[in-house]
Amino acid sequence: MSEKKRILSGIQPSGALTLGNYVGALRNWVALQKTDEYECFFMLADLHTITVRQIPKDFRKNAMDLLALFIACGIDPEKSPVFFQSHVPAHLQLSWVMTCNTYMGELSRMTQFKDKAKKHATNINAGLFTYPSLMAADILLYQADLVPVGHDQMQHLELTRDLANRFNNAYSETFKVPEAYIPKVGARIMSLQDPTQKMSKSDTNENGYILLLDPIDQVIKKIKRAVTDSGSEVKRGEGKAGVENLMSIYSAVTGMSMDEIESAFIGKGYGEFKTAVAEAVAETLRPIQERYLDLMKNKDYLEKIYRDGAGKAAYIANKTVAKVYRKVGLIQP
Ligand code: TRP
Repeated sequence: MSEKKRILSGIQPSGALTLGNYVGALRNWVALQKTDEYECFFMLADLHTITVRQIPKDFRKNAMDLLALFIACGIDPEKSPVFFQSHVPAHLQLSWVMTCNTYMGELSRMTQFKDKAKKHATNINAGLFTYPSLMAADILLYQADLVPVGHDQMQHLELTRDLANRFNNAYSETFKVPEAYIPKVGARIMSLQDPTQKMSKSDTNENGYILLLDPIDQVIKKIKRAVTDSGSEVKRGEGKAGVENLMSIYSAVTGMSMDEIESAFIGKGYGEFKTAVAEAVAETLRPIQERYLDLMKNKDYLEKIYRDGAGKAAYIANKTVAKVYRKVGLIQP
């Protein structure tokens, strides 16, 4: 048995990845993996994605793109299983048991459900409602110690902890109660057009976000068009959310602290600063895009990654399901 703490995280293949997803999630996963302190499992949460109607052809493309981007961004599939949730049936098996232990009231309080129900008013399906029970299953199956999640998923993680405790109390100690892992440098990247909003690919203005696979000349244009303010100093402060966002992006891709950035750009205007940010982002994205293109030419390799990943994930997940089924009193097959 490995003594390492276990980490499980997932991203939905629901569309193209933004620079915000990279800085807020993927890049941290790569860093966590590199420390060798953890045993990591990285999941493409495709079963979660179908709670919103998908166009099958686009969905398949998004899923393969996301897999290739995981690897292109530096995740080593030899070290950490990378797998599609739908390839490990244990997720659905445990999900049912979790659903039967989740109260309607709890699910009704989930802010993501409320938001998505508003956004997809013609398709408020039962899966959208029970989504958090599936997410709890994802985590508890692996007896994960830590779950790196953004703010928007904290409520789901809290529920997961409640469900783990509820089950443990009802049936005896079964699940590890997971904790949120909040990265130390968790820059939140905001829209380039409206720095009060999180950078998101669902933004109607495509100048607001940078996609990992945007052509580099477009990335540069988007950064140069980013909103700032009528001042000229590169520093944080009241009314300077736009500049501050560019500073966080610059900090995220160069590793410089906000203070270091302020000192480095004293006396220099926004134009010069934006050029520096654009270049630094381009430099980060270029090698990722090159690796992505190479990987997409090698479908056999990608297939091997997700098959091996699912095999390793299922080995652990199936053990948890067997234990849970036994504890609740289901007859052993
Ligand atoms: N719900 C998460 C999201 O939309 C994705 C997800 C599914 C996940 N299962 C997970 C994240 C388990 C962490 C752990 O971002």
